[in-house]
Amino acid sequence: MSRKKVGVLISGRGSNMSALIEASKNPDYPAEIVGVLSNKAAAPGLLAAQENGIATTSLAQSKFPSREMFEDTMTLVLESWEVDYVCLAGFMRILGEDFVLRWQGRMINIHPSLLPAYKGLDTHTRVIADGGTEHGCSVHFVTPGLDEGPVILQARVPVLPGDTPETLSARVLVEEHKIYPKALAMLTRGEVSL
Ligand code: GAR
Repeated sequence: MSRKKVGVLISGRGSNMSALIEASKNPDYPAEIVGVLSNKAAAPGLLAAQENGIATTSLAQSKFPSREMFEDTMTLVLESWEVDYVCLAGFMRILGEDFVLRWQGRMINIHPSLLPAYKGLDTHTRVIADGGTEHGCSVHFVTPGLDEGPVILQARVPVLPGDTPETLSARVLVEEHKIYPKALAMLTRGEVSL
């Protein structure tokens, strides 16, 4: 079996990235993580990737004259790793249409809500403020509209009395780490497509 090559884009902790790396340690897993790119040089996830012998690069958007040039450079890095697929894992920048269309169908994201509910930021805080009883996470294809691409997998968790954004996000994160490797396996096996 030839494994598909995957690049992961992060901005911080990288726990979802680590879940993908752990899954890919199983030789039967259909994808391997070949590179991790961060828009923050201090992202802790970069160290975790390096400890696993994975290539890393960081690129600060502020060093580029335009978003297009920043994103074109991200594409050059991903292409230098010969990636087949791209996973956004806590990559906290909105991507421009050119970059999204270049990778469309081959780029997925994990988002901490039951999409199409609660697109955007601060999902846990907003669910609690709304008195919601159910929350969760979604892996979806990335399309030009923010958090709008078709959903591949979701997991649900209850919102419990007394939950804070921290306790709720921790409950959701456990599920994120389960569904992201599953969704990437489905994609790279060709079981789902855009
Ligand atoms: C995760 O909860 C992920 O779903 C969320 O950021 C966190 C990153 O954590 N992503 C978004 O909010 C994207 N809009 P991680 O760096 O530990 O994977």
